[in-house]
Amino acid sequence: MDFTKDDCINSEELYDIIPKRFSSRKYTSTPLTEEHSTHLVDFAAKASAIFPDARLVVKEVDKSVFKMKFAQAKWMAAFLFKKDDQTARLHAGMLAELILLEAARLGVHTVWLGGLFDLSASVKASGCGDDEAVTGITPLGYVEGRSIFEKTTFSVMAGHKFKNGELVKRKRKDRTFFVHGATPLADWPEWAVTVLDALILAPSAINKQPWRVELVKTDGEVTLKLSSGKAGNTTLIPDDMGAGVVHISIALVKLGKTFEYEEPAGYTGVQGAVAAEWRVKE
Ligand SMILES: Cc1cc2nc3c(=O)[nH]c(=O)nc-3n(C[C@H](O)[C@H](O)[C@H](O)COP(=O)(O)O)c2cc1C
Repeated sequence: MDFTKDDCINSEELYDIIPKRFSSRKYTSTPLTEEHSTHLVDFAAKASAIFPDARLVVKEVDKSVFKMKFAQAKWMAAFLFKKDDQTARLHAGMLAELILLEAARLGVHTVWLGGLFDLSASVKASGCGDDEAVTGITPLGYVEGRSIFEKTTFSVMAGHKFKNGELVKRKRKDRTFFVHGATPLADWPEWAVTVLDALILAPSAINKQPWRVELVKTDGEVTLKLSSGKAGNTTLIPDDMGAGVVHISIALVKLGKTFEYEEPAGYTGVQGAVAAEWRVKE
């Protein structure tokens, strides 16, 4: 499966949104504005056309699909993939991150939920087919005043710090943690370090940041290989990889890099498996 420059919808703007997006866990009961809902429904349809085996559904829902404080939100996006296919699940992760960033661009808040939602209610609400599964959902809504700063187990884990309503700090591992293979970070070109910084800000289940990137230099080309390392927890790795793919691709497009994207056949979704590669012209 290819994932081209054109598939990174609104990438120029989404690159700047990457540091601004964060998971919000308390919503007001205000439904999405007509403008936002129409835009996100259209965006979901456009993004879903990228892959034959994964899709996004944006819908107005009742609180039965959410648990806890997310229940206030009136809209959701659901991430669907062809059952039992880890590549399809990777694609659902890519679509999920595209819509999370696009929502953030509009000022619509999200939190990627891989658990903490009612699976059967969301299967029903999303019109999930018999050959499909829902891998996650997000509320789409607004937050108000101090709710942004509300501490939950998850936001503490993510280490959010806000100043004047802006996210200024979050917990992420150091760059070297993500560097895999024979080329040490000191030998990475500057643009590749910028790409790595964009990757590190991707969301991941329980903030485990399972991504590893190997950089291989050949004549006139640099290959980046994205895999998952020992994260101590294998939950939802293909989904996390999907988020990582989107961040890397958006950064490459923003930097004006020409690249070819490739997914090794038979992706298993297990630790260590390469999910995607980018051959980047120097
Ligand atoms: C695949 C996946 C599943 C997630 N599942 C949940 C969840 O069930 N509940 C929750 O509160 N957050 C969930 N998150 C959000 C992460 O906890 C969050 O992305 C991480 O802590 C980093 O924080 P940030 O998104 O604010 O950067 C999930 C994220 C991903 C990518």
